[in-house]
Amino acid sequence: MAAPPPPPHVLVLPCPAQGHINPALAFANRLASTSLSVTVLITTDLINKATVSSSSSSSSVSIALISDGKEAVEGPETFEAEFKRARAVLSPNLAEFIDHNRSSASPAKLLVYDSTMPWAMDVARARGLLCAPFFTMSAAVSAIFYHLKNGGLKYPYEECEEVCLPSLPRLGAKDLPSLSMFINSSQTVLKLLCDQFSNLEKADWVFFNTFDMLEREIVEWMARKWPIKTIGPTILLNKKDNNNNNHTTINLFEPKQDSCTQWLDSKETDSVVYVSFGSLASLGEPQMEELAHGLAASRLHFLWVVRASEADKLPQGFDPGEKGLVVAWCDQLEVLSHRAVACFVSHCGWNSTLEAVGHGVPVVALPQCADQTTDAKFLEDVWGVGVVVRGCEREEIAACIEGVVGGERGAEMRRKARELKKLAKEAVECGGTSASNIQCFVEELLCR
Ligand code: UDX
Repeated sequence: MAAPPPPPHVLVLPCPAQGHINPALAFANRLASTSLSVTVLITTDLINKATVSSSSSSSSVSIALISDGKEAVEGPETFEAEFKRARAVLSPNLAEFIDHNRSSASPAKLLVYDSTMPWAMDVARARGLLCAPFFTMSAAVSAIFYHLKNGGLKYPYEECEEVCLPSLPRLGAKDLPSLSMFINSSQTVLKLLCDQFSNLEKADWVFFNTFDMLEREIVEWMARKWPIKTIGPTILLNKKDNNNNNHTTINLFEPKQDSCTQWLDSKETDSVVYVSFGSLASLGEPQMEELAHGLAASRLHFLWVVRASEADKLPQGFDPGEKGLVVAWCDQLEVLSHRAVACFVSHCGWNSTLEAVGHGVPVVALPQCADQTTDAKFLEDVWGVGVVVRGCEREEIAACIEGVVGGERGAEMRRKARELKKLAKEAVECGGTSASNIQCFVEELLCR
């Protein structure tokens, strides 16, 4: 009797940054828990800095290395140079990887690639693979970049303009994705984000890390154009109660988990403000100082993640004492699920936003750039589970924290946060929209 065919092999190519690797790997883990075999392609430079952990020795995600040429770069690089080099080196290396893999016992059938690398589709298509971009920003933000690409919206935005775009709420200029921090490279960043849509009509599936009940209208609008599959929140895909205990994570920063957990364990329920600005955002010294004083002025304790590269911006002589704990990195999912955490002061990167939503934690939003401004608007106005800090003075920060954890408005936000958490959980549970989309995709792949 002939041996059964090997399971379809999926390659996953994330963009080499923590905020992109986390959702791609969570999705890859989930796919590997089905009948698929999955290889995640990680750049060689990144793997030297990373801690790769597997929750089980039988984890079925394989990691393969691919060079983007960064390991040979000496000294700092501009964003433009980095962008050009990564593409010029990664593209032939991806082609070579696929060619080599073709003669293996399990040749790849599909490439899932980060949507910011649309050229990966051309490489994979030319070698007969199916292709699916994976969007790591919200559907709303992605739709805005689609309109920027197609002339429905112009950049730079008119300051006082309020824009009305299909399926989106009215957005002021301050609510639109901000490119102002990329001072000399805003046009390159804009092109990178708009190009996500350059060949989308050729995609076999288009994955979004969101769930239908969170962004229903936008998802419906997109689904009329592209074969959209919402598969998030990816952080909830690999929970033990979803039958997937084998998962691999890649951390570019070393978490100080023990000290955080012990410290949180010693605190009362709902008595701690968790503060983090993700893996890339960089606050100015004055903003760090106001934040430090704002946290000190709040009646709650605080757990503040200050990455090593940011630590010298803390105010001189800053000592959190009994009131707070400052760490360079933590396991954010563990922290957000701790009973002591009352609210999250966040830059509102899309992962942090979904992680707050998925854990029912209300947000005090201090967006810095890119998609964060729009995520903050949605947290406050659309989902009602957060407040945006308008100035950056200490009094305002302390007042916003109080507004979220106390009073009637705070109680309403916390109620809505619990509701959203329930909807997020339902989406990834058996029969939920995201779980069904994944199942349906796997069945389609098996038939192709
Ligand atoms: C960026 C963008 O802001 C984001 O919107 C985009 O989609 C991906 O790239 P980043 O700024 O790092 O990401 O923020 P965020 O999206 O919130 O991702 C940070 C990740 O790091 C989260 O998954 C968070 O759980 C994790 N993290 C952060 C930790 O595990 N520990 C920490 O101490 C801080």
